[in-house]
Amino acid sequence: MIQHTSEQRPLVQMRQVQKFFGDFQALKDIDLDIQAGEVVVVIGPSGSGKSTLCRTINRLETIDSGEILIDGEKLPEEGARLAKLRSDVGMVFQSFNLFAHKTILENVTLGPMKVRRLPAAKAKEEAMALLERVGVAHQAQKYPAQLSGGQQQRVAIARALAMKPKVMLFDEPTSALDPEMINEVLDVMVTLAKEGMTMVVVTHEMGFARKAANRVVFMADGQIVEVAEPEEFFTNPQSARAKDFLSKILTH
Ligand SMILES: Nc1ncnc2c1ncn2[C@@H]1O[C@H](COP(=O)(O)OP(=O)(O)OP(=O)(O)O)[C@@H](O)[C@H]1O
Ligand SMILES: [Mg+2]
Repeated sequence: MIQHTSEQRPLVQMRQVQKFFGDFQALKDIDLDIQAGEVVVVIGPSGSGKSTLCRTINRLETIDSGEILIDGEKLPEEGARLAKLRSDVGMVFQSFNLFAHKTILENVTLGPMKVRRLPAAKAKEEAMALLERVGVAHQAQKYPAQLSGGQQQRVAIARALAMKPKVMLFDEPTSALDPEMINEVLDVMVTLAKEGMTMVVVTHEMGFARKAANRVVFMADGQIVEVAEPEEFFTNPQSARAKDFLSKILTH
């Protein structure tokens, strides 16, 4: 596991968060603090609320009660402050969500130019450095469809990083990828983790959890059922739900 030296500073604080879709409660009493530099893997059965949890953190979903603070600031309802706070939280989805009609380079420079108001030359310089970092700089002038899934997902990571987020959320970033491309994306994520990025990662990739995560959060039915260090969680799960879930994913 990566040793984190960062000071204790909660970058994400969720307090008694409740989220409903109509009558259905998707998040129940969520209390979770994520410290600066911490990597938290979120795991759990389909429909347990993992994506909803991520989406509430960057306010793609509203919450019904409770509160969420990013670096000590309460998520505002709307307006310029919301845009600013949202740019503190980068998100990478299962599907790559790149702009199909823009080049790889344009995909990465767009946000910084619009939101961070960087001049084009500076945005390009930063984007090229990020594309270099994720190993796709030589593809900068291509369009997303001309790249493999793994390459597109690495561009999606570079695009999120270009906003200089304080926290990165990853929602099953490798589950739409062919097996041979999974590791190239996970390697980028492990490097990010080692560099001290604060990360929330929804994934069933246990190798990643073991290598990079400080804690595993296990969810079921909209609740956090168990929180433990990865080794402890995978070898000695406490709850019946976690035992059942692990026995299913381990036999696949
Ligand atoms: N926009 C929505 N409207 C209504 N119900 C929703 C909406 N989004 C999510 N849900 C419901 O909330 C529950 C949690 O969904 P969520 O997508 O967070 O689960 P998940 O843990 O990410 O599942 P998966 O592993 O399949 O991605 C599910 O029962 C889902 O059907
Ligand atoms: Mg999901």
